[in-house]
Amino acid sequence: MEDIPWEQQLETGKLFIPEIVTPLKHTPFYERLTVEERLTYNHYAAMAVSEQFCYLESELLTKVIGALLRRDKKKLDGDLALAMEGFIEEEFLHTEVFRRLNRISWPEIYESADYYFLRPGVATGITNWLVRRWPHFLMGWVWMALALEEKTIAISREYENKAESTVADTDGLYRLIHRLHARDEVRHVQLDQHVLRYLYKGAPEWRKRFNTRLVARSLRSFTTPRLKSTRVNVLRETVKRHSRLKRWEHEMVAAITGLYTNDVYQSRVWGRSALPITFRLLDGVKDMDEVCAAFPSYKEME
Ligand SMILES: [Fe+2]
Ligand SMILES: [Fe+2]
Repeated sequence: MEDIPWEQQLETGKLFIPEIVTPLKHTPFYERLTVEERLTYNHYAAMAVSEQFCYLESELLTKVIGALLRRDKKKLDGDLALAMEGFIEEEFLHTEVFRRLNRISWPEIYESADYYFLRPGVATGITNWLVRRWPHFLMGWVWMALALEEKTIAISREYENKAESTVADTDGLYRLIHRLHARDEVRHVQLDQHVLRYLYKGAPEWRKRFNTRLVARSLRSFTTPRLKSTRVNVLRETVKRHSRLKRWEHEMVAAITGLYTNDVYQSRVWGRSALPITFRLLDGVKDMDEVCAAFPSYKEME
């Protein structure tokens, strides 16, 4: 928290997040947007990403790691337990940072709510609850943790590819926060791998297969934005702000939900270069075909 210059003004004429990670950029419609419209879309997309980080970290990861720590206190290796405690502390801090960033970005909304673009359905809430209740049985959560935490590192890396921007540079505060976040996430991705080994070691085959199915289904919702997804909500909010876009709303939503077949989007945003560790681990595990298929760009290394 002390490393962040909170007094620094946000540069609203700049991007808040690299365009390349925003879905609409990968559709023909992005070209039709004016600079102002692109900035609105981009700023909303950045706030939505902050919400997603907060949700994942505060509603799932800290709680499920906490549950595992409480239950397996005696069984866990001392170093691993210590790393898990550190993980929880860091994620609490991250949630605080991203919430504060959103309050600065759009005070009218985030002074009174933590989530605006992200509207988790009942099924997501129930799944999270079940995972927190049975972290051993529903051990597939750790694959999700691994992929999504590795994704946060990939996002922060994209801030360095300045040449690709069609609008302007990225805002300094956003860039710094994502960089600092990724520094901790590098450690979390290592921890995830230890927890993965811990939970999968000795687990019966049927349980592994059951979890593979669950993981594949959850991951697919990330690689294929659904009609009621956060990414579509971001687009709809942009249309609300710029009514000129109303005439293309339907087609733009269809383009976003059709990104599963967009090779450039998939390989850049959900591909091997973005998630090298996740993909490498998938290469080495048997019977994970369904999970691999959730990443359209996945191809086994020869
Ligand atoms: Fe985090
Ligand atoms: Fe993390």
